[in-house]
Amino acid sequence: MSNASQTAAGNGAASATKAYEIVDHTYDVVVVGAGGAGLRATLGLAEAGLKTACISKVFPTRSHTVAAQGGVSASLGNMGEDDWRWHMYDTVKGSDWLGDQDAIEYMVREAAPAILELEHYGMPFSRTEDGKIYQRPFGGMTTRFGEGIAQRTCAAADRTGHAMLHTLYQQSLRRHAEFFIEYFTIDLMMEDGMCRGVIAWNLDDGVLHRFRAQMVIMATGGYGRSYFSCTGAHTQTGDGNAMVLRAGLPLQDMEFVQFHPTGIYGAGCLITEGVRGEGGYLTNSEGERFMERYAPSAKDLASRDVVSRSMTMEVREGRGVGASNDHIHLHIEHLDPNLINERLPGIAESARIFAGVDVTKEPIPVLPTCHYNMGGIPALFSGEVVHVKDGNPDSVVPGLMAIGEAACVSVHGANRLGSNSLLDLVVFGRSAAKRCAEILVPGASQAPLPSDADEPALDRLDRTRHADGPIPTAELRLEMQRSMQGHAAVFRTGEVLDQGVAELGEIWSKRGDLGVTDRSMVWNSDLVEALELDNLLYQSRVTMSSAANREESRGAHAREDFPDRDDENWMKHTLAYCDEAGAVSFDYRPVHLNTLTNEVQTFPPKARVY
Ligand code: FUM
Repeated sequence: MSNASQTAAGNGAASATKAYEIVDHTYDVVVVGAGGAGLRATLGLAEAGLKTACISKVFPTRSHTVAAQGGVSASLGNMGEDDWRWHMYDTVKGSDWLGDQDAIEYMVREAAPAILELEHYGMPFSRTEDGKIYQRPFGGMTTRFGEGIAQRTCAAADRTGHAMLHTLYQQSLRRHAEFFIEYFTIDLMMEDGMCRGVIAWNLDDGVLHRFRAQMVIMATGGYGRSYFSCTGAHTQTGDGNAMVLRAGLPLQDMEFVQFHPTGIYGAGCLITEGVRGEGGYLTNSEGERFMERYAPSAKDLASRDVVSRSMTMEVREGRGVGASNDHIHLHIEHLDPNLINERLPGIAESARIFAGVDVTKEPIPVLPTCHYNMGGIPALFSGEVVHVKDGNPDSVVPGLMAIGEAACVSVHGANRLGSNSLLDLVVFGRSAAKRCAEILVPGASQAPLPSDADEPALDRLDRTRHADGPIPTAELRLEMQRSMQGHAAVFRTGEVLDQGVAELGEIWSKRGDLGVTDRSMVWNSDLVEALELDNLLYQSRVTMSSAANREESRGAHAREDFPDRDDENWMKHTLAYCDEAGAVSFDYRPVHLNTLTNEVQTFPPKARVY
């Protein structure tokens, strides 16, 4: 590790417990997170000759992107007619008109080059008979502005994220990118509103590392683990989002949480939407294909918010399946077993392991499960983080970028279309690297860090490490997860959300009673989980409060007391701040209704027809 110098911590009146060993580094760019977005950025930065460190709390190929199944969208037109304008329309409509149309245009136009680049990097896509990348139908993806069904989702069987991660990691290594693996990033280091770097803890030897950089790119993923049932990995704790809140910056549109229609009942594991793309369908206890009633045109391939709500309605109205009438059946028994073997091997295995089901003979029990956070760190399509300053809603925060699920660009608005997430990762990972190459000078000298730059992070680490209250992390986490699941799920009302806000307030106040039993610094998973819980609590608070604040229904945010979309009052992005006491406050940014170029017209809001 170059540029490393050993210094004692202890700024000013450091307590005895804060005698940490600290190693200092200087990089042009530090990427936090090594999922699809973080790796794509790291690769681009290494290619651009910028000295880059990628810090990850897990081994890169174990990042949560590995679990993405169904595919990545791009209007390649390999399996039928397609056009980026149709993809753009679908994405704007899917977002329920909360998506920024300039960013959406950028994403769908960059899709084809980004995917072909992955192919050239060696990503093992499934193939058509004539050797092209195989593409399957996915929910909400249409041709001719809603007329037909598009085959737009490029797949590597049902292990697309796995294939993507391995490809990007190998290519990054080929370009000698530097990785700091199993390092837990504790917090940002800020100076006068500018991000100057991060402080991270090497889990393997207990040493702390201060990374000074011209640019920090947050690629830390979503925070699915705020919920009791989610398709996300246990590591999906949105650490970067919480760091941004602690830095006094806002998160955007946190009320929009996507529930994937087909999580395995009981286990929560994902069963890809690709199953319905390949001909699978849902039934209720009467054996009825009920989606025909809710979405006569798109049926089982309606967007996820629509399918999740329809399933919930069926269960509520007593037509759920199983002994408790509380879930739904997903069928693929009618499909050719060879097709299942070739295109859906992973879900056949998951269904066998987690539901005890042979998918060639019986339906899979499924239930809507927390899957994706549309909200996150507000950013432009260049990756630059923005906030409202001096009346400017797009004021750039110097030194800070955000990409992937951690970011809210906002291309998904109020509801993301399936397979637009893997696309978002590679397109914006790539654009952030390009932007860094434009605005940074490799090796440019950096001002010394302020002497107290790491003080807040060290205080937090120290406080948590020595917490000696009676409540174990797992207990408080479960309380929070149950509260989120019970109060901020598929359907919401003001009354239930207000109860949720109050409940989370009580849970927040118990942070001081938390107990960490292991005080060591080497592989202290007790301490990691306590820090992650703290991160989740920040995000849960802004999610619940933002949901209570938004008095309309839009995309994934379905308020039974405000059932209509209200473009007059609510076509705007929520910005939520959370102070040290857990108090949440709001501001707003306008939706970008303008396109990027004149090659497409804006899509004005219209009522939704499925
Ligand atoms: O259903 C799926 O395969 C998930 C894809 C996605 O969330 O984009």
